[in-house]
Amino acid sequence: MKLAVYQFAPRFGEKKENLERVRGAVSGLECDLLVLPELTLTGYQFTSREELAGLAEPVPDGWTCAALSEMAAGLGCHIICGLAEDAGERYFNSAVLVGPGGLVGTYRKAHLFCEEKSWFTPGDSGFNVFDAGDVRVGMIICFDWLFPEAARILTLRGAQVIAHPANLVLPWCQKIALARAWENRVFFVTVNRTGAEQRGTLGRLEFTGQSQVVTPDGEILFRLGEDEEALKVVEFDPADANDKMATEYNDVLGDRRTELYGPLVE
Ligand code: ACM
Repeated sequence: MKLAVYQFAPRFGEKKENLERVRGAVSGLECDLLVLPELTLTGYQFTSREELAGLAEPVPDGWTCAALSEMAAGLGCHIICGLAEDAGERYFNSAVLVGPGGLVGTYRKAHLFCEEKSWFTPGDSGFNVFDAGDVRVGMIICFDWLFPEAARILTLRGAQVIAHPANLVLPWCQKIALARAWENRVFFVTVNRTGAEQRGTLGRLEFTGQSQVVTPDGEILFRLGEDEEALKVVEFDPADANDKMATEYNDVLGDRRTELYGPLVE
């Protein structure tokens, strides 16, 4: 498959401008799956629930989902994109998978980071796997990387590729993603943003870029720079994620000792 990622610095609140940036970058792109960052069109640092309400949209009946579906139809591919979801009384930090025919699946971020807890509701979608063409894809969002259970559940459900839209500010994820990919024997695709935001009285956030694709063997197919704005396309065989053998003797799923893991969910 050909997988594309677009790393850039969205401008807070400028959804149309940010969409035009993405549109311009992906014009003529040939790929099977395009992955975009967390909160791609809105920007990240909300300062109130009212502000979030003004920028969030319903899924799939909002402007952003329609624009993404049109883009997917035009490019003949699937797209994963982070967005602010308006679900009536609740707002979720979500990611959608859209194809040429429209919405395929939604993931609502389970593990909220810092001030996100003030505006968003913790996700209730669980960790589900969807077909993006011939590829089985699961989604997590940014801080979910810290919780290995999320990637493990997606793996148990058959994900070959874990798509990870992000707005990372801590320096750890790009390193630890190698472990997530290796321990689950999946492709782990982190798509981060660049730039900085400082809004209202909140602290300045500097996003760490370094979007990357890691193979089931824990090898980095590419890693973008910290400040680089780039569209990157990479080709790999998702079926490489079907082999769960870490050694000749060790199956990373089959060798689990679930009878000893009860405390994990206490
Ligand atoms: C994050 O979860 N956006 C750090």
